[in-house]
Amino acid sequence: MTTTHIPEHGGKPPAASAKEASASVLQLNLNGQPVSASCSPDTRLLTLLREHWHLTGAKPGCEVGRCGACMVWLNGEPVNACLLMAYQIQGQTVRTIESVAQDSASEPVRDALARCGGVQCGYCTSGMVMSMSWLHQQQPRPTAAEAEAQMCGNLCRCTGYGGIRRAVQELFPAEKSA
Ligand code: FES
Ligand code: FES
Repeated sequence: MTTTHIPEHGGKPPAASAKEASASVLQLNLNGQPVSASCSPDTRLLTLLREHWHLTGAKPGCEVGRCGACMVWLNGEPVNACLLMAYQIQGQTVRTIESVAQDSASEPVRDALARCGGVQCGYCTSGMVMSMSWLHQQQPRPTAAEAEAQMCGNLCRCTGYGGIRRAVQELFPAEKSA
């Protein structure tokens, strides 16, 4: 994001910083709307979402791609917004929890997490919903191993995972043996 410098007493404006000088215009589709931002190409998507577009559902956790608290969908695939930079998302399509949570398709996931006690402080919950909703919509009958593999990128520091596991098992019941 650029900053406009207003010189005091009509003096010359200060020279642009290197980052400001290299700012470029990022354009993408965000939650179904075309948006743009003037930013350095190495600005992280997580920063843009929270500080430029004021979408705070994606949370900063580890900020190195391990915890899933910042999860969004990029062109329909779950990704960690802390690892994506502006130059990597030019012209792409991003959906955040603010959009997915309005979508009735994510309702079974939200209900299961709430009913099974999978939400405590809630810090990881938006990432959990993004991950579980993606699996629920893309692959409604995953094996237990596939469901575990999808969720292994989402860490929770509160629950001990009991409630989250119950929600996953409720959403993706194991095939009954004949
Ligand atoms: Fe992005 Fe942890 S904050 S994966
Ligand atoms: Fe608190 Fe998961 S509910 S981090």
